[in-house]
Amino acid sequence: MSVIHNKKLIRALNGETLSKPPFWFMRQAGRYLPEYRKVRSTSKNFLNMCYTPDLAVEVTMQPLERLKTDAAIMFSDILVIPDALGQKVEFIEGFGPVLEPIRTVGEIDKLDISSLHDHLSPVYEILERLFKEISETTTLIGFAGAPWTLAIYMVEGKGGTECGTARVWAYKDPEGFQKLIDLLIQAVSIYLIKQVESGAEALQLFDSWAGVLSEDQYQRWIIEPNKKIVENVRAAHPDIPIIGFPRNAGSKYESFAIETKMNGLSIDHSVGLEWARDHLQSVTCVQGNLDNHTLLAGGDALDNSVYKILDTLSGGPFIFNLGHGVLPSTPPENVERVAELIRNWSE
Ligand code: CP3
Repeated sequence: MSVIHNKKLIRALNGETLSKPPFWFMRQAGRYLPEYRKVRSTSKNFLNMCYTPDLAVEVTMQPLERLKTDAAIMFSDILVIPDALGQKVEFIEGFGPVLEPIRTVGEIDKLDISSLHDHLSPVYEILERLFKEISETTTLIGFAGAPWTLAIYMVEGKGGTECGTARVWAYKDPEGFQKLIDLLIQAVSIYLIKQVESGAEALQLFDSWAGVLSEDQYQRWIIEPNKKIVENVRAAHPDIPIIGFPRNAGSKYESFAIETKMNGLSIDHSVGLEWARDHLQSVTCVQGNLDNHTLLAGGDALDNSVYKILDTLSGGPFIFNLGHGVLPSTPPENVERVAELIRNWSE
């Protein structure tokens, strides 16, 4: 047995029920932390920070020191993939990501996968350094955006919309749109394989925009691409635990878990806890699902939500997390409070 089995997060992802669940928080490194804002202020451009190992390693470690989470998620962003494929990507302060939109098959053909590893070599260095730096009980998580969610940003040019342009394209010209998805399946697969070779011990695929699709479209653009990536990564690294996150998929989480065969499933806060226990935990390890607004609110509402999640989901394979990332205005004390409640919890 290797040291990996000291790592609670990996044990949960391998199907074990632990008396105290492991925990981490999506966006645990971010603007809600004063120590993050300090480092962030030294770098004008967010992507530059993602590609600067010294800075990315430092901010990855910050929440570990403060919260003693069971996992370190490498500091990066899902949009490094379109950037590495040659699309223009910018992060505008106070607005979010802006990309030069791709609207035609001709524009898909101009994307270039050949220098992906070169472009992303700082990410691999970040993982190598983190692997050496983290403690023996902490799991290093690598990640990528899933194809549909990446395609949304690439086609719409931004997030936070109804995803209308991409959805109409997918209906009108599915073969053309499939070209973009296929390129992303290939890019994400080789990216994740290299992350594992650089030190990542578990992977998460973020499909944040899965919830906008109808059932048949969901099969084609969410389940199939996620499944192919899992197959590709497992062909190279059969034992690497993979967590899926088809956010806002409602009852469609169940078919995702069954068909993609991921080790873990991250659920958003809208998923009923008892439903998740009865329908998902028999198939996979469940991760989630504290509402990030409860975390913002704090007080009794926060304590009660944390206990309810622990009470309902701790009887099976489970990782405590949020339903979506920590919001920038969250008081850090509230996040510390959750960490303390989980550590002190007993069934
Ligand atoms: O979780 C972590 O601590 C690891 C780092 C991480 C970031 N982005 C850092 C980040 C991860 C895992 C992501 C994933 C990501 N990025 C997703 C999937 C998860 C989700 O939130 O749905 C998506 C859709 C993105 C794209 C993205 N990046 C958006 C929409 C934004 C703007 C919104 C915002 O919060 O500013 C970003 C920027 C971003 N990514 C920040 C951080 C810490 C803030 C940038 C800053 O510090 O100025």
